[in-house]
Amino acid sequence: MERYVPSIAAQFSLKTSETIMSNLFTPTKVGRYTLSHRVVLAPMTRLRTIQPGDIPSPMMADFYGQRASEGGLEVIEGVSISIPARSYLGAASFYHDGQMAGWKAVADAVHAKGGRAFMQLIHGGRQSHVEMTGGVAPLAPSVVPFDGVAVTKDGFVPASPHRAIEIEEIPGLIEEFRVAAQRALDAGFDGVELHGANGYLVDQFIQDGTNKRTDAYGGPIENRVRFLKEAVEALISVWSADRVGVRISPSGEWGGISDSNPEATFTYVAKLLNQYGLAYLHVIEPRIKGDSTLHEGHPPVAVKYLRPHFSGPIIAAGGFDRDSAMAIVEAGDADLVAFGRHFSSNPDLPYRLKHNLPLTPYVRDAFWGGDERGYTDFPAYQQELAEAV
Ligand SMILES: Cc1cc2nc3c(=O)[nH]c(=O)nc-3n(C[C@H](O)[C@H](O)[C@H](O)COP(=O)(O)O)c2cc1C
Repeated sequence: MERYVPSIAAQFSLKTSETIMSNLFTPTKVGRYTLSHRVVLAPMTRLRTIQPGDIPSPMMADFYGQRASEGGLEVIEGVSISIPARSYLGAASFYHDGQMAGWKAVADAVHAKGGRAFMQLIHGGRQSHVEMTGGVAPLAPSVVPFDGVAVTKDGFVPASPHRAIEIEEIPGLIEEFRVAAQRALDAGFDGVELHGANGYLVDQFIQDGTNKRTDAYGGPIENRVRFLKEAVEALISVWSADRVGVRISPSGEWGGISDSNPEATFTYVAKLLNQYGLAYLHVIEPRIKGDSTLHEGHPPVAVKYLRPHFSGPIIAAGGFDRDSAMAIVEAGDADLVAFGRHFSSNPDLPYRLKHNLPLTPYVRDAFWGGDERGYTDFPAYQQELAEAV
């Protein structure tokens, strides 16, 4: 009889797995789902849809399939809910039926490996350009000078001048969120995440640096969260609360956003969201600005002050490595940790973290657009080892 000889990788994993004892690698519940570990894929816009029509490409399905794991959670990149909601050429959207097959393939790829996928829904608001919005001025709660960027066929370009949303237009915008949420359900996803972070439209309403309105959607915080509240309720009407998450970025600086009192504002937001029984609250630490670390060495602060006000699961994100992720879960300030850049170059990141294996460095040049290179060509650790022998 042939003797079974485990591969080098299998022997290695057997040896190391015995040494790891951390809550990061234990099961937890997120809404109605039980996950088997707490290492989450953070949403990352990678500008790899097929043009025209923002069709989700087969390489996107590969990307998400590669990063899926049994009982693992992925948050799918920001998906614009309409044409005027778009910010970046090549970015994901979901507003027409021609996109359904591509999105189904993404959901199927994640499910084939036993993973869960929440689709992040976004309206870019003033972070856009007329070439992306279908020729109309980008929308915002108020007109406030903004020197941010959008992506068109000419690459990163200055955002176009925006206009203030009329109060009568708001129900239509909320309806766009609801319709996109329904499409995500029809495509077979497991939930949706409202993008309330990084200075996009929902965040523009929340924070007083960008919201100068004097009507029911501006002024005191109770009014500034009205848009958030209505959008969340629209998503809940489709999915029920236990399959809806919300992402926020207190004191984040991406998108020229600011607030006169971020701690008070986001404490209010956490308390408000706590009432719904959401699947989770996803919090980006302010040491991160969009896709970069702005403040090296800063400890996580936002989850710490929000934790007492939100009793559901909290996902912390932004600048985590293995040790800090294990520490924050151990401390109880967060229940799960989302990884962006490290996950981009390590498709088997949960496995590598669990077994304390080396990480492949990420490739910033491949973040924003391109082909499979720097996107789906990163090997898993076992494959790396096999190739090395
Ligand atoms: C290329 C790239 C694209 C991103 N796109 C999104 C996005 O679509 N939605 C979002 O909420 N955050 C986005 N982010 C932010 C990440 O989700 C995450 O918060 C950030 O990378 C910090 O986490 P990290 O230190 O683990 O990379 C993006 C980041 C990168 C690097």
